[in-house]
Amino acid sequence: MSRTEPFDAPAVIAAKRDHHRLDDDQIDWVVDAYTRGVVAPEQMSALAMAILLNGMDRREIARWTAAMIASGERMDFAGIDRPTADKHSTGGVGDKITLPLAPLVAACGVAVPQLSGRGLGHTGGTLDKLESIRGWRADLTNAEMLAQLQDVGAVVCAAGSGLAPADKKLYALRDVTGTVEAIPLIASSIMSKKIAEGTGALVLDVKVGSGAFMKSEEHARELAEVMVDLGNDAGVTTVALLTDMSTPLGLTAGNALEVRESVEVLAGGGPPDVVELTLALAREMLAAAGREDVDPAAALADGRAMDTWRRMVSAQDGDPDADLPLARETHVVPAPATGVLARLDAMPVGVAAWRLGAGRSGPGEAVQAGAGVQMHAKPGDRVRAGDPLLTLHTDTPERFPRALAALEGAFEVGDAVTAVPDVLIGRVG
Ligand code: URA
Repeated sequence: MSRTEPFDAPAVIAAKRDHHRLDDDQIDWVVDAYTRGVVAPEQMSALAMAILLNGMDRREIARWTAAMIASGERMDFAGIDRPTADKHSTGGVGDKITLPLAPLVAACGVAVPQLSGRGLGHTGGTLDKLESIRGWRADLTNAEMLAQLQDVGAVVCAAGSGLAPADKKLYALRDVTGTVEAIPLIASSIMSKKIAEGTGALVLDVKVGSGAFMKSEEHARELAEVMVDLGNDAGVTTVALLTDMSTPLGLTAGNALEVRESVEVLAGGGPPDVVELTLALAREMLAAAGREDVDPAAALADGRAMDTWRRMVSAQDGDPDADLPLARETHVVPAPATGVLARLDAMPVGVAAWRLGAGRSGPGEAVQAGAGVQMHAKPGDRVRAGDPLLTLHTDTPERFPRALAALEGAFEVGDAVTAVPDVLIGRVG
């Protein structure tokens, strides 16, 4: 330990281990020193575990978030001639909502700066999805991003390494130390990036259910409340919707499969749950940006959202008219009985899509654009024995057995539905 460091890591870890609240100076130091490499990964993982087990109060979380923002640059959209609003989802299976939502909100006069990440594990990443469009480019300079935001009104691109670098380092560590599922760490991770991004308004889509980080409504609500407070306290108008993730969203999980479904929504069709959630989030984003007078349903119906999508894709060198990649091999899973699909669990479908090649198991791995799971029924739909229930897609058929193993017990056909969850569960803000 350098003699110029004002604290030492074991003392900070022991304080949290012993249920004390960390003071502002300790938090500022530990986040900064970890980013500089002075606090070692094993020390930060011990501290993350102590935070997971013993929690943090709201003041500690706010200070931790501020320290992570201070570790990097802040974007500034003051030069954009419209209000800005972004959406962040805590992650789910088949969650392609950003794709129709960003151009829809932009078509309604609110600019959408969306700095996104790639998927890791069973949840897909927005950039991986868009990269299945021929030519599309995720990496933009700040100047390109600002120009596209002003010109097209929507930009979805990779977050540069300058934004909350402390979070990048800490998130990678949490991912391999069993410390992802801590409300203070999730809230500060998400909100540090969104506040540093510089959006004026933010709508959070906090997923609840078996396919989400937060399995219960109670925990999801607590996470939502912490994030909404962090955003509003930092001057970003923030609200949250709690939405169902017990079953996948829409009828597809996988990169190109999800782009195809998103384009269907933009063309006025698409699965009802995707349309309902897209419109609900669009209304919240418009209201948070001061444009509650605008009806997003009209912009979806009259093709303005589709026009903006095409411009948004083209601006990043993508060809909106190119055929989307199809996987080389498919395997059909038939309905085991005639009746009503009573249950189709999100998590196993996400794991199956991942094992088919839609996701990666380590940073930097390539994903298959065409891989994934196509669903032919949603809970509540009637199915007939032997008819296709799921179609698995991959370029590498040796992946089918492991994907099928993930789907063991993932669905149930009964005589009548017990309860089909609504996509919209609650609202915080
Ligand atoms: N998404 C993030 O960016 N951070 C988390 O901690 C969890 C989800």
